[in-house]
Amino acid sequence: MADISGKVVIITGASSGIGEATALQLAQSGAKVALLARRKDRLDQLVSDIEKDGGTALAIEADVTSMETCQKAVGQVVEQWGGVDILINNAGVMLIGPAAELPVENWEQMIQLNQLGLLYMTRSALPEITKAHGHIVNISSVAGRTTAPGSSVYNMTKWGVNAFTEALRKELVDGKTGVRTTLIEPGAVATELQSHNTPETQEKLKQRFGDIKILDAEDIAGAITFAVSQPPHVNVNEILIRPTEQPQ
Ligand SMILES: NC(=O)c1ccc[n+]([C@@H]2O[C@H](COP(=O)([O-])OP(=O)(O)OC[C@H]3O[C@@H](n4cnc5c(N)ncnc54)[C@H](OP(=O)(O)O)[C@@H]3O)[C@@H](O)[C@H]2O)c1
Repeated sequence: MADISGKVVIITGASSGIGEATALQLAQSGAKVALLARRKDRLDQLVSDIEKDGGTALAIEADVTSMETCQKAVGQVVEQWGGVDILINNAGVMLIGPAAELPVENWEQMIQLNQLGLLYMTRSALPEITKAHGHIVNISSVAGRTTAPGSSVYNMTKWGVNAFTEALRKELVDGKTGVRTTLIEPGAVATELQSHNTPETQEKLKQRFGDIKILDAEDIAGAITFAVSQPPHVNVNEILIRPTEQPQ
């Protein structure tokens, strides 16, 4: 495993779930973590927890559905720490319902965050990541590989993330940048993700998984830490990680 201490990492959606767990693990490995999300109070608390543990972190209140905000956030990190080595595009939302019924605003929210937010952050950080021969980690989903009724628009956003990540990898190889890309595709993880749905939809999702032991955010953080801790000639392109008992 390569030493990632001192590496500058930007994590979007760091105020809860997978982003928060990843921030804690990478900070424990000695990385400097810039935490982006809208809930600044949650980010401030996380910075305080990381610092108490001897780590280094920076909270940046940012809605990544704005290109201008993404550029400013990256600028703030560069001003503070001199560059960016790793970007983890994790912020995302999953709003479930058939395409014929789900409010159009919910489609827009998913496309704006899961796709445009990821693109804006990538474009904003890429010049610095290229200078650093760094790494971009995109959090997709098992929903980027298999479809389900009710997930059509969420599926579309995550299939798009998969396609973008692989095409970007080829562009970065062609450009001889030394920049790596990793796609992480989690199955069900216990986070706040489902809580943005109606109570009826949340109940249906609960029934879909029955009483199987789903993943913890720390399990995904472990996969991300593994991917970014490889030596420079090793590019872990893709990790699909499901609960043992998840059928699809
Ligand atoms: N949980 C699962 O079962 C599962 C499975 C497969 C893939 N995933 C993917 O994992 C990623 C993380 O999700 P999670 O499960 O950890 O859910 P989560 O706990 O709901 O985390 C989502 C994060 O995104 C942030 N966010 C939402 N809107 C934002 C915006 N406009 N700008 C910036 N940040 C924003 C939220 O923070 P604020 O509200 O403070 O902005 C929060 O920190 C997502 O991409 C999701 O699709 C999750």
